[in-house]
Amino acid sequence: MAGSEDRRVLDTLHLLLLVAVLPLASRGAIRNARPWTEEKNYHQPAILNSSSLRQVADGTNISEMWQNDLRPLLIERYPGSPGSYAARQHIMKRIQRLQADWVLEVDTFLRQTPYGYRSFSNIISTLNPAAKRHLVLACHYDSKYFPHWDNRVFVGATDSAVPCAMMLELARALDKHLLSLKKLSDSKPDLSLQLIFFDGEEAFLHWSPQDSLYGSRHLASKMASTPHPPGASDTNQLQGMDLLVLLDLIGAPNPTFPIFFPHSARWFNRLQTIEYELHELGLLKDHSWERHYFQSYGYRGGIQDDHIPFLRKGVPILHLIPTPFPEVWHTMEDNEENLDEPTIDNLNKILQVFVLEYLHL
Ligand SMILES: *[C@@H]1O[C@H](CO)[C@@H](O)[C@H](O)[C@H]1NC(C)=O
Ligand SMILES: *[C@@H]1O[C@H](CO)[C@@H](O)[C@H](O)[C@H]1NC(C)=O
Ligand SMILES: [Zn+2]
Repeated sequence: MAGSEDRRVLDTLHLLLLVAVLPLASRGAIRNARPWTEEKNYHQPAILNSSSLRQVADGTNISEMWQNDLRPLLIERYPGSPGSYAARQHIMKRIQRLQADWVLEVDTFLRQTPYGYRSFSNIISTLNPAAKRHLVLACHYDSKYFPHWDNRVFVGATDSAVPCAMMLELARALDKHLLSLKKLSDSKPDLSLQLIFFDGEEAFLHWSPQDSLYGSRHLASKMASTPHPPGASDTNQLQGMDLLVLLDLIGAPNPTFPIFFPHSARWFNRLQTIEYELHELGLLKDHSWERHYFQSYGYRGGIQDDHIPFLRKGVPILHLIPTPFPEVWHTMEDNEENLDEPTIDNLNKILQVFVLEYLHL
């Protein structure tokens, strides 16, 4: 009898001990069970309240973007052309003058094309390169090569000068927020931001696996074989990509973006919710909810774009390309006159809120 009494006391003690130890043990267990490369699957945004949304909407400036980021990009800039060099210098100059600690890299390589060997240069701009994880925004800065026609040149305004300008404006408007990521670096920030400007997205002649996606194919394999974080032995830079947000063909009026990948649907839904919240607060111009941008329909069939080499290697993708494509796509009319300023301004606001929420800034 006494024995079993003692036993019960002991069991109770065990139970108490277990209760006390469990939270620590399970936290430790979760940390051990989940390698950092899987954190992205559980990542939650820090949702902004309405006064923060107003601040973001006030902080972005479409005229500033238009004059200083976009106009200098509205030139012929196919790989290896003088305009390509000028566009690259422009992008790097716009980033270098900011306060946040951007580290710029130019990834230059040669490839055989239908017109012989050509030189290509991707631009990679990274905050906290040693951070394990990065949210990545990307676009292509090359314009498609077209022979001049009637003295007109193809400047690819939506394809993709505007997405590049949107990324530059995001870096400018959020500069102070992004600067604060630097301070976190003492306590090893786990998550930061990277911007990629691809070269050679376009085919020189006819789209094929060989004649297209020159820059993204090169960079995806290079990153797959580059250890990350620096010095790591069994993880690479691609595993350090939380989500690759690829912007393309943006700037025409009334775009609708479908959901391409179920694996990133929850991030697409964030964009949808942000659009709704900004709309309700009256912070979007010429915007009717009947024609909202982030629609809930899925898209069947594949679109070939710079995300493909990364998707094939397992990087989560959020592809922001409207369907149908802009009417001016791959015509001489894809120029400044046919851009819709309010739409671009609205998308800037939505994207900037998305990035702040993702990075918990
Ligand atoms: C909104 O969020 C900001 C930043 O987190 C905070 O400083 C502010 O007090 C919040 N405002 C309201 C009205 O909750
Ligand atoms: C927006 O940018 C333009 C052009 O740089 C500038 O003239 C204007 O003052 C800016 N507006 C605000 C509110 O900062
Ligand atoms: Zn194109």
